[in-house]
Amino acid sequence: MTNTLFTPVTLGKLQLKNRIVMSPMTRSRAIGNVPNALMEKYYSDRADAGLIITEGTSPSPNGLGYARIPGMFSDEQVKGWKRVNDAVHAKGGRIFIQLMHTGRVSHPANMAADARILAPSAIAAPGEMWTDSSGMQSHPSPTAMGEADIRATIAEYAYASKRAIEAGFDGVELHGANGYMIDQFLNTATNQRTDQWGGNIENRIRFAVEVAKATATAIGADRVGMRISPYGAFNGAVPDPKMDAMYLRLIEELNNIGLLYIHVVDHSSMGAPEVSPELKQQIRANFKGKYILSGGYDATRANADLEAQRGDLVAFGRPFIANPDLVQKLQDGTALAAPDPATFYTPGEKGYTDY
Ligand SMILES: Cc1cc2nc3c(=O)[nH]c(=O)nc-3n(C[C@H](O)[C@H](O)[C@H](O)COP(=O)(O)O)c2cc1C
Repeated sequence: MTNTLFTPVTLGKLQLKNRIVMSPMTRSRAIGNVPNALMEKYYSDRADAGLIITEGTSPSPNGLGYARIPGMFSDEQVKGWKRVNDAVHAKGGRIFIQLMHTGRVSHPANMAADARILAPSAIAAPGEMWTDSSGMQSHPSPTAMGEADIRATIAEYAYASKRAIEAGFDGVELHGANGYMIDQFLNTATNQRTDQWGGNIENRIRFAVEVAKATATAIGADRVGMRISPYGAFNGAVPDPKMDAMYLRLIEELNNIGLLYIHVVDHSSMGAPEVSPELKQQIRANFKGKYILSGGYDATRANADLEAQRGDLVAFGRPFIANPDLVQKLQDGTALAAPDPATFYTPGEKGYTDY
């Protein structure tokens, strides 16, 4: 087995100590949507990763669809995240924030009274979600965004990116995957608009491109990456016959902006359809920035894929939950502890900082 995974890599202006990325994972410990001391411990315990990508964090009150997820727009949130970032940096770690606007994947019980549930089209997300006040609830039908809503939402990503840099983050990952706001524009199941924001490929990628442009203008393209999930099935996303072409066109636009990295989710290890090796290879061949592989990796497969030049870095999700010392364990070949799914999203330290 080769050991490329444990070798340093350059990411924009950053030198990462290894190619191991901690995947973005929602953990719902941010009481009041503000990062706290418990989160500071959780992230700094994992600072051996070459790069940490935080849990999905909302750029605005409208994007706070889940219970207890953090935001990145208020002074209090800047202060809370600064503590997290200082602790990670003190241990020599690097950390990006994942900006996740939940869009239609939301419920009023999880949101501030004046927040709005917005989406490209007024189509409710399938299934139910947890609310702390009323248990499991169906998703309501979202309000279809008007032109002003779309412009305002794009501006929210740019504003949140600036605040993220103010809070000490090394960069921003735009969550374009898993059926949240950006993906709601990309996907035909959630975007049935007939204006310049929906319909053909050019129109459906427009929101993702405009968000990337606005964010890059705000903080520099060399600090912005994007996560995408072609053929993902989460939150009601569906495949369509032009999906490969759409992602390749998106990649072209992200190249023009000079985006730092593309982070491609393959959730076949979690039951989603596999992303075809051909599409991954085409994205790899065409994208000019770094490529982060993710989904169901162990050290052997990670090293093999790095060796085969399928990507530059490899993200690990679930293995990091129960193994704060994952990097050391992967290096030593030590057996990994198994995470407990029952505590993935529950408040408090149990199943969070006690592994
Ligand atoms: C508890 C949990 C929360 C997650 N939250 C997010 C999230 O906020 N943003 C995101 O892009 N992916 C999220 N994911 C997906 C992971 O980033 C990752 O893609 C997935 O777990 C597959 O990688 P793995 O096989 O290494 O775990 C989450 C996964 C888990 C298990």
